[in-house]
Amino acid sequence: MILENFKRESLIPLPVSFISTVSKNGINNIAPYSCVMSILRPFDLICVASAKMRDTFVNIKETEEFVINMPGTDMADKVIPTAMHVPFNINEFKLADLKERPSQKVKAPGIEGCYAWMECKLHNIYEEDYNGIPYLLIMGKVVHLEIDDNVYNPEDGSWDLKKAKPLMMTGSNDGMHFCTVNDIDKFEPYGAMFEDGKDPLSWMYEKEVKTCK
Ligand SMILES: Cc1cc2nc3c(=O)[nH]c(=O)nc-3n(C[C@H](O)[C@H](O)[C@H](O)COP(=O)(O)O)c2cc1C
Repeated sequence: MILENFKRESLIPLPVSFISTVSKNGINNIAPYSCVMSILRPFDLICVASAKMRDTFVNIKETEEFVINMPGTDMADKVIPTAMHVPFNINEFKLADLKERPSQKVKAPGIEGCYAWMECKLHNIYEEDYNGIPYLLIMGKVVHLEIDDNVYNPEDGSWDLKKAKPLMMTGSNDGMHFCTVNDIDKFEPYGAMFEDGKDPLSWMYEKEVKTCK
């Protein structure tokens, strides 16, 4: 079957994250974002593709901070309430009945009940028009990263997909199909990609293992 080129998005299972921000007047905002991508392995950068007409963008531009919250499938019912286009002065934590989780390094609160939280400071915004429509690539620098202790294994940095059940989605012509990911019990070390079998970045992980023990 040959598809319309724009449907590329629906063929890539996408994560569902909730981006929480706070306006310069102190009003908290949440929006679901799926076009979220980490930039290469050794960096602490994360990229979010955003339309321009987003309170999330306005808040990030003004405060230069945001939190990317990673929900499990049990939070699927929070997607639509936070995706609704509501006036700027509405606190979406209240609207979606979500509890604030104090952040460590940024003002914007995280969301209680997610399995991971990425507190970010704005790194850069790339802004352009494509076919006359403006869009943005918002680059954040992760300044504090946390995962629920119940799903994390500090011995090797793996985490339990069965417990976390990360919320994902695929698209069809009418909408979004929510799903999660399953382990297929196949593992390859990073070193397998290199001729000498050694991961040149292994030193980066050793520090964390030492602090966890
Ligand atoms: C599952 C899901 C994923 C979404 N992903 C994105 C995205 O990656 N980028 C974007 O600009 N909008 C995305 N949206 C749309 C925004 O969440 C929606 O427009 C929201 O109302 C924006 O809220 P805000 O104006 O408070 O920022 C997504 C919506 C849903 C339901």
